[in-house]
Amino acid sequence: MSKTFGDQSEIFVDETVLYENWVPEELPEREEEIDRLHDALSPVTRGAAPHNTFVYGKTGQGKTVGVNHKLDDLAAYAEDNDIDLNVVRYSCAKDNTSYQVVVNLVEQISGDKPIGHDTKTVFDYLYTELQKLGGTTIIVLDEIDNIGNDDDILYELPRALANGHLEDMWVSVIGISNDFRFRDNLSPKVKDTLCDEEIHFSPYDADQLRAILRRRADKAFYDGALSDEVIPLCAGLTAQDKGSARQALRYLYKAGEFAVSADDEQVTEEHARLAEGELERKSIEKGIRDLTIQDKLALVAVIDIETSGKAPAPTREVYGRYKKIALETGADTIAMRRMRDHLQDLDLSGVVNAIERNRGIRGGHHYLFELSTDLGMTIDVLEEGERLGNILDHIV
Ligand SMILES: Nc1ncnc2c1ncn2[C@@H]1O[C@H](COP(=O)(O)OP(=O)(O)OP(=O)(O)O)[C@@H](O)[C@H]1O
Ligand SMILES: [Mg+2]
Repeated sequence: MSKTFGDQSEIFVDETVLYENWVPEELPEREEEIDRLHDALSPVTRGAAPHNTFVYGKTGQGKTVGVNHKLDDLAAYAEDNDIDLNVVRYSCAKDNTSYQVVVNLVEQISGDKPIGHDTKTVFDYLYTELQKLGGTTIIVLDEIDNIGNDDDILYELPRALANGHLEDMWVSVIGISNDFRFRDNLSPKVKDTLCDEEIHFSPYDADQLRAILRRRADKAFYDGALSDEVIPLCAGLTAQDKGSARQALRYLYKAGEFAVSADDEQVTEEHARLAEGELERKSIEKGIRDLTIQDKLALVAVIDIETSGKAPAPTREVYGRYKKIALETGADTIAMRRMRDHLQDLDLSGVVNAIERNRGIRGGHHYLFELSTDLGMTIDVLEEGERLGNILDHIV
């Protein structure tokens, strides 16, 4: 018999709790990072300027939700204590230049988008709008890495007061990024101004992911609807990968949906494995869809490292494999630094994991690379793309 709406299952009490944009009341796993943000913002409560802050860490680590939490706290405190505080939250996801960010900020604050002006004029518009807000104004620029090297805004905004563009008010900036290169490549003058405070959100481990899922599952599922293995499995699979809370939540939600769809009474390990398989495949397909040939060659080099049990490996080692593969397939060979850029792009698209390592007493840091998706499935998906079939022949 076909399904009819209205046959309610006994799985979800409220599945909206598993939505990405559902706001958790507490983030105990990020207490330390949020306390540091607290300290950076606390001058506001003493009538002084909050510190400019740069927040970074991989995708799904609670950066956006953590910053929002602290700013909500601060806004509530300001309201109760008659402090003139304004918070402007803006996502730069669709902007590639400082100019676009400035134009869109003006529109967000004033309701009018300035069109057809030069850079200086749009900055002046922004200063005019900020001056109208007055008091203490905190501007959050989320996903700021999208502006790449065109990072003037990160220099200009924090210095607006010192440069005489604003008076009798405080402006400070919180930049948020999940692209490590962006932090590494910020121009020295931006580093100097923006990075009064740098707060790193390191990847969640399996215990933390379990706790995060447990708290959300308690609200989302009926008592007893989840069998004991489900949360540890979803958390474990994600921890081996990138430690993203977003991904762990997706696994759990999808596992629940599989149970509902099969009309089962409980979400089981099998549902969780099915969920992981389906979402993993989707994420590989999405991660691979728009790759350039050079991205793919770099990816195949990582796959080669992975199949020979040498992962995670430093850039030099991946580059050795990359050169061999490029040569054998007759593709152009690019320099090591550029290939490393491709590896970082693969990290952002979710198929490769770049692990940051400090160099110890020598200072600085370097990266180790590994495949972050399932090996067999990644090869499968790659083989479906025609040109790659023969690249892969060179390694497997
Ligand atoms: N400690 C936590 N407790 C509960 N939920 C969390 C926690 N950390 C993250 N989440 C949830 O995980 C999801 C992703 O978090 P968030 O959007 O803050 O990640 P992000 O670090 O900003 O990632 P991106 O770099 O991709 O923007 C959200 O649904 C958020 O509510
Ligand atoms: Mg975010």
